[in-house]
Amino acid sequence: MISGAGQGIGKQIVLDLYSEGARIAAFDINEEQVNNLKEEINFNNKKIIIFQADVSKSNQVSKVVKETINYFGKVDLLINNAGILSYCSIEDTTDDILEKILSVNLKGVMYCVREVVPFMKKNQYGRIVNISSITGKRGDNNTSPCYGASKGGIITLTKSLARQLGPYGINVNAVAPHAIMTSIMNGWDEEKKNKMKELIPVKRLGTVKDVSSVVLFLLSDASAFITGETININGGYYMD
Ligand SMILES: NC(=O)c1ccc[n+]([C@@H]2O[C@H](COP(=O)([O-])OP(=O)(O)OC[C@H]3O[C@@H](n4cnc5c(N)ncnc54)[C@H](O)[C@@H]3O)[C@@H](O)[C@H]2O)c1
Repeated sequence: MISGAGQGIGKQIVLDLYSEGARIAAFDINEEQVNNLKEEINFNNKKIIIFQADVSKSNQVSKVVKETINYFGKVDLLINNAGILSYCSIEDTTDDILEKILSVNLKGVMYCVREVVPFMKKNQYGRIVNISSITGKRGDNNTSPCYGASKGGIITLTKSLARQLGPYGINVNAVAPHAIMTSIMNGWDEEKKNKMKELIPVKRLGTVKDVSSVVLFLLSDASAFITGETININGGYYMD
């Protein structure tokens, strides 16, 4: 099951999981993107169900999980990918911005995990991958400070969940991407992109495939002894 699957990183993860033969329940708030995704993937194929739903509304998440369980009977893998970004100072971070960012980026992750974990526990198996950000590790100069706080929250949440769910065969990890060229990066003009390219040791910007391949690794048994980690995906720009 994956949130924010309509475009960007989430969509690439859907396409890659699909070609690996996974059965997928995907959802996104954006109805047009949901319809495009349905068209792109042969939706009549019984291996995928796609919903329009808002991750920040617990009743909608609960409905997605219920329908997924009705359809597939279980959820083994959960990718918490949906996220939004805002550029503003702390003074300009209105209640509305604060509420939206924390609800989508942090509460939304908790809603999905809360709904899915009982089914994973029942099967004594699960893999959860959360999409954090470099900003959750080192902060940022331009984005709303609450974006970094939401992504930092994901890193700590990942560790607590890993400790508490490990005994049930459930591994929980995260990735911290940076400079992946999707529409969330529309705030970067060409000059900023070129400057960033120079600062990144491998001298290029990131692609959705760079993230998807690490997520698939964390979902696979190749990473069975890794839990509670947040892996940097940034071409060496930030290391810890
Ligand atoms: N692109 C980067 O460089 C970068 C860096 C760090 C972290 N991230 C994180 O990666 C994740 C994916 O971002 P992306 O770069 O693919 O951006 P994107 O904007 O292309 O994709 C985000 C997707 O989430 C969906 N979404 C937004 N709000 C939602 C909601 N309430 N419910 C359900 N779906 C919702 C959007 O409709 C969109 O399809 C985000 O969590 C983002 O914070 C991206």
